[in-house]
Amino acid sequence: MTDIRNAPVGVFDSGVGGLTVAREIMRNLPSEKIVYFGDTARVPYGSKSKETITRYSRQIIRFLMEQDVKAIVIACNTASAFALETVRHEFPLPIIGVIRAGAEVAAAGTRNKRVGVIGTEGTIGSGIHEELLHSLDPDIQVFGKACPLFCPLVEEGWTHDPLTREVASRYLKELQDKDIDTLILGCTHYPLLRSTIREIMGESVRLVNPAYETALELKRLLEKEDLCSRETREEEFPYRFYVSDLAEKFKQFANSILPYDVEMTQKIDIERYYSQPKEGGTDG
Ligand code: DGL
Repeated sequence: MTDIRNAPVGVFDSGVGGLTVAREIMRNLPSEKIVYFGDTARVPYGSKSKETITRYSRQIIRFLMEQDVKAIVIACNTASAFALETVRHEFPLPIIGVIRAGAEVAAAGTRNKRVGVIGTEGTIGSGIHEELLHSLDPDIQVFGKACPLFCPLVEEGWTHDPLTREVASRYLKELQDKDIDTLILGCTHYPLLRSTIREIMGESVRLVNPAYETALELKRLLEKEDLCSRETREEEFPYRFYVSDLAEKFKQFANSILPYDVEMTQKIDIERYYSQPKEGGTDG
């Protein structure tokens, strides 16, 4: 009989960005296997509606459940903001997102109760950080700023380019004037711009990386649910990667940020999966 504790964790994102979350899970939970799905055919999520993102998330969760995952991490901030609350009641396995853990750390750490959040237009427009931070401490003031150009710049590999610095200075100017002491990097790609953001915001502003905080939340969840893997390091490669388009390009990006070589990425037809709340195998 197979032990569910040794099943993989499912991680999904709109594309490559969620690899920053997968990377933290690999580092902090080294005995866990991962099945990663990047929705490269339908990226970006940041400029799409809540209904669309919820529909996409359901399809991906159904695909991941077919891979027999024991829990799911929604690594995408936009999908966490728009879909987590809905889908976590629809499926029979634990599902977490990337927003709560970061908000908790920010709420506990801020001294002047002025917290900044940067993310996609969808994430910032959803107001989810404000909602969560206020539920943790009603005195916290939240300042959000959408930075839509950051994702393409990171994917272009321009993390340390003068152009990126210029774009970052413009976006962050507004937050510099707000006297925040904590800034949540509320998008999968932003931890890769950490040094540029730090340079602009200064050492006194604490940068919260939700990718890292989510890996720790996952660890606590698996412990609580008695789902921690019982296997020690496997001989076979413990990570599997799936995408909905352009598998080769994904592999190149993955190899540039992961400490492992991603040898194989498989392309699947995500539209095959049912997108409505109630069960049914596929849409077809
Ligand atoms: N992964 C998305 C997020 O964290 C950013 C990229 C996109 O817009 O799809 O919000």
